[in-house]
Amino acid sequence: MSVVVRPAGAHDAPWLAALAERTFRETYSAYNTPDDMERYVAEHFGVARQETELRDPRRVTLVAEVDGQAAGYAQLGRGDAPACVAGPAPMEVLRFYVDRPWHGRGVAQTLMAAAVEAARTGGARTLWLGVWEQNTRAIAFYRKCAFGDVGTQIFVLGTDHQQDRVLARPLD
Ligand SMILES: CC(C)(COP(=O)(O)OP(=O)(O)OC[C@H]1O[C@@H](n2cnc3c(N)ncnc32)[C@H](O)[C@@H]1OP(=O)(O)O)[C@@H](O)C(=O)NCCC(=O)NCCS
Repeated sequence: MSVVVRPAGAHDAPWLAALAERTFRETYSAYNTPDDMERYVAEHFGVARQETELRDPRRVTLVAEVDGQAAGYAQLGRGDAPACVAGPAPMEVLRFYVDRPWHGRGVAQTLMAAAVEAARTGGARTLWLGVWEQNTRAIAFYRKCAFGDVGTQIFVLGTDHQQDRVLARPLD
């Protein structure tokens, strides 16, 4: 199995939008009302929105391919970090999704290594993210990748205000 991570460009928007929406639904549908899910998906996914994000110079999107087929993606962004992220030059992991058949098979580790390298290359010295407090698998994965708890923040999914844990790690 060969895992390759490459930067995504605007031409990737159609299939990436579909992958992003599907993996989001697969991860969270069981824990949220259909109304909240539909509201969030309508606001945050779709080809036009994806293309805008891919063209945004403050974001970096990486795609992990296994034997040439998309198996996951990560999106990093520069921007304001919450006060609990105290490290210098922060960059956020906005999204980090591996398709289900590839969970537990090392794709996520390869994608995270590429994300860390992209953040460093982009001048970041701290990598941080918000993760739903009940997403125990993701939290365990991030811990393996040297992230530690630094605080909490609220994530709004539709109309539901949920508690995210904020995790961060130095890049030095
Ligand atoms: C989060 C994600 C990228 C992690 O990738 P992964 O390949 O599943 O991660 P790994 O299997 O290497 O590590 C997960 C760890 O969680 C733990 N784990 C495994 N299965 C678990 C389960 N069912 N429930 C809770 N924890 C679990 C284990 O400690 C495991 O590490 P180990 O097997 O080395 O001990 C991937 O699961 C994913 O894409 N999930 C859906 C999207 C998502 O939640 N993204 C994060 C948004 S913030």
